[in-house]
Amino acid sequence: MSHEFEDKDRVETVRLTMPSGEKAGGNFFEQVGGSPVFEKLVNAFYEGVANDDVLRPMYPEEDLGPAARRLQLFLEQYWGGPSTYQEERGHPRLKMRHAVFKINPLARERWLLHMRAALESLELSPLKEAELWAYLDRAATAMLNTFED
Ligand code: HEM
Repeated sequence: MSHEFEDKDRVETVRLTMPSGEKAGGNFFEQVGGSPVFEKLVNAFYEGVANDDVLRPMYPEEDLGPAARRLQLFLEQYWGGPSTYQEERGHPRLKMRHAVFKINPLARERWLLHMRAALESLELSPLKEAELWAYLDRAATAMLNTFED
């Protein structure tokens, strides 16, 4: 027998979909449901920011839409989605880009408060939620640049 395994014998890749819509296989971006999920996260987050007396004044633009888009593209890229952020904005250098804003512990706390609520609205599996949260928490701590009021 020259061909012990023929193409037709190959088992097709099975793609499981969890009840939450999460998929088995692929990277984190794909597993949680791709762009629509990141869009939902960021939109819910900015709803919180829009009503926050500490954070809202920090955003230079009247319209929060463009800022929401930048955050969405960054997060998508970070988690293995398209690299549109890099193409439009270059290297993220987030610490540097945030240096112009006064990010004290209160600002960090508010940012994480809205992000937590937004994250919970996605109803991801506990493991995915924990993974995303651990990153956001760590990143927000890295953005601290003052302890003054
Ligand atoms: C800790 C509290 C934080 C505060 C108060 C804060 C505040 C801000 C503000 C005021 C802007 C400018 C809005 C704009 O024009 O885009 C901004 C931009 C941005 N922030 Fe934050 N941020 C925080 C944490 C984070 C974290 C943890 C991340 C990432 C995980 C992040 C990602 C971004 C990105 C990607 C941009 C757009 C950068 C660009 O391309 O110009 N921020 N942030």
